[in-house]
Amino acid sequence: VLRKRIVVLSGDGIGPEVCSEAVRVLKAVAERFGHEFIFDHQLMGACAIDATGDPLPAKTLAACRQADAVLLGAIGDPKYDNDPTAKVRPEQGLLRLRKSLGLYANIRPVTAYDRLLEHSPLKKERIQGADMLIFRELTGGVYFGEKGRNPDGSAYDNCTYSREEIVRIAHRAFQAAENRRRKLTLVDKANVLETSRLWREVVQEIASQYDSVEVDYLFVDNAAMQIILNPKQFDVILTENMFGDIISDEASVIAGSLGLLPSASVGDEVALFEPIHGSYPQAKGKGIANPIATILSAAMLLEHFGLQEEADSVKAAVNNALDKRVLTPELNATAPYTTEQVGSFIAYGVLDIADCQLH
Ligand code: IPM
Ligand code: MN
Repeated sequence: VLRKRIVVLSGDGIGPEVCSEAVRVLKAVAERFGHEFIFDHQLMGACAIDATGDPLPAKTLAACRQADAVLLGAIGDPKYDNDPTAKVRPEQGLLRLRKSLGLYANIRPVTAYDRLLEHSPLKKERIQGADMLIFRELTGGVYFGEKGRNPDGSAYDNCTYSREEIVRIAHRAFQAAENRRRKLTLVDKANVLETSRLWREVVQEIASQYDSVEVDYLFVDNAAMQIILNPKQFDVILTENMFGDIISDEASVIAGSLGLLPSASVGDEVALFEPIHGSYPQAKGKGIANPIATILSAAMLLEHFGLQEEADSVKAAVNNALDKRVLTPELNATAPYTTEQVGSFIAYGVLDIADCQLH
C-alpha cells in the first residue's frame, strides 16, 4: 500500500463544497486500490484571515511543506474585491504559498469534451477535438514584481523575469510537447515588452535541444483570438504568469464550463492541485458548484504520485458522469444534480458500483 499525506486547503466560497467531493473521490480511490491517504485540513485565504488575521498562517505553510501533495479549493471573498484599500487580502495567501513552495509551473489542460460540445458558445466544428496544455509560469512576472504608489498618487507594478525562471519552465513545457503532438507555442508580447523578448530568446535557444518539437511564437493579443477562432492548432502553450492567467480562463470556454478545468502547480518541492476557477461566492452553500474541476485536479494529483491506473479510474468515472448527464445546473439546466450528487456518482464510479445507487 501507498501511504500519502495530502493537505487540503478548502478555502472560501464554494471551495469547501468542491473539495469535499474531491476528497470523497480520493477516499474511493484509496478504498478500491488499497492505499492510505491521510487528509490534513488547513486554513488559507479569507477564512484564514477571519481566524488568524493572516491569509497564509505559518502552520498552514509548514503543513504544506511536509505533505506529499496539496489539494486546494478556491480562495477569495467579495468583501476584499470591493475594497481596493484592504491591506490584507486572501489572494496574498495563494501567491505567497506558490512562491514559498517554488511552484513555478502551473499546468492547465483544456479539452473539448464530445459530450459537451453543445455547451460551448463556440461552433461545434471549431472546437471538436481541441486539446491543449497550457504551461503558465506561476512565481514571476508582474504578479511578484515590486508594486506600490508614488508620491504623486500614481501606481506601478514591475514585471521582471530572469533567464533561469524561463529556462526551468520551458524545459518542462518542451518535455510535455515531446510526449504529445510535438508542437509548442510561446505566447508573449515581444513586439512591446522586454521581458517577452527575453522569453523568445531563451525559448529559441532551448528549442535546439528538442528537435522533434515544432515551435511557433504568437503575440498574446493574436493568441487570444486564435484560441477562439481555431483552438485545434494548439498543443502545448507556454507563457508568462499574467498572460497564462488570462488565456486559460478564455480557453475554458472551449470545454463548456470553467467548472471543468483542473490544474497542477509543480516546482522543486511539494506539488499543488487546484481547479482554475475562483471561489464563486454567489453559489456558496447552494449545492450548484461543479466539483469536476477539483475532482480532475485530484486525478492530476494521483498521476503526480505515479498512480496512473487510479487516475484513469477517476477520469473514466468523470466521463461516465458526462455521458449520463449527472451534472450541475450550468451543464444540465433541465435536470440538474447537486455538487454532492455529482461527487458521489463519480466516487461510486471509481468503486465500480452501478450508478443506480444515485436514484
Ligand atoms: C488563478 C487565480 C489566481 C491568479 C488569483 C486568485 C490570485 O485567478 O489561479 O488563476 O490570478 O493566479
Ligand atoms: Mn485566474
